[in-house]
Amino acid sequence: MTAQIIDGKATAEKIRNELAERIAGWEVKPYLAVILVGNDPASLIYDRNKQKAAQAMGMACDIYHLPEETKEDELVELIERLNGEPRVNGILVQMPLPRHINSSRIIETIAHEKDVDGFGPYNAGLLHENDPRAMAAATPKGILYLLEQTLGDVTGKHAVIIGRSNIVGRPLSSLLLNKNCTVTVAHSKTVNLPALARQADILVAACGQPKMVKKDWVKEGATVIDVGINRIDGKLCGDVDFDEVKEKAAYITPVPGGVGPMTIAMLLDNTCQAYLNQNYNLKK
Ligand code: GUN
Repeated sequence: MTAQIIDGKATAEKIRNELAERIAGWEVKPYLAVILVGNDPASLIYDRNKQKAAQAMGMACDIYHLPEETKEDELVELIERLNGEPRVNGILVQMPLPRHINSSRIIETIAHEKDVDGFGPYNAGLLHENDPRAMAAATPKGILYLLEQTLGDVTGKHAVIIGRSNIVGRPLSSLLLNKNCTVTVAHSKTVNLPALARQADILVAACGQPKMVKKDWVKEGATVIDVGINRIDGKLCGDVDFDEVKEKAAYITPVPGGVGPMTIAMLLDNTCQAYLNQNYNLKK
């Protein structure tokens, strides 16, 4: 068996085109504020890509690029100012922040109705409680979109998520549980991970270890989602050994071109939702 590739790039483009059509009819455009502290090269590229995608869709987007040595209080002041500006619909603070800044305090400062990353305790709590008002984190939301597009209803499927981060593993576990999956979250202390992974109908690798998931970790016919972005000798690769695993899985996301493009599309989707909530109190 050779797995069918789940094309995140094409799906993300479709979502962005649909959003662009909607935005074209709005007199005032949604506005996303992206805050970047320091000069991490990967973060710089991510944020420019977000800005380009937002602008291509007809949204307004500024990057507030602050120096590495910015004080925590200065960052808090900027966020509070943006919280108070009615034209700002979404605020995203790029992670990771420099070590001298307490990221929990920063995330908690973002007004919950502008928290388009869904990282704040208010939105994370709503998601945990399966409350439809939750703004869900973009990467897990993109993964769920790809899964439902590929498999239809995921009720009753066993999802094994490798990784328990606040950005991917934890919110994804809530999203999938809310869709009636049976969810197991594995992590670096999990005992006999390969045997556990082999039980998965849906296997999500979000552990940050290049090519960690091997063919013998995968049940025949499983759906494999690779959230990893790693470089080996300058070449991008995921957390899944793609060449091996594609011989065993039924569906698999590639790196690049799988989950990555969906993150940006879902961030922009969240920004449009925030705009509608703030301006019209409407559901999309
Ligand atoms: N760093 C890695 N992924 C993300 C993300 O989705 N949002 C933010 N703000 N920072 C990140």
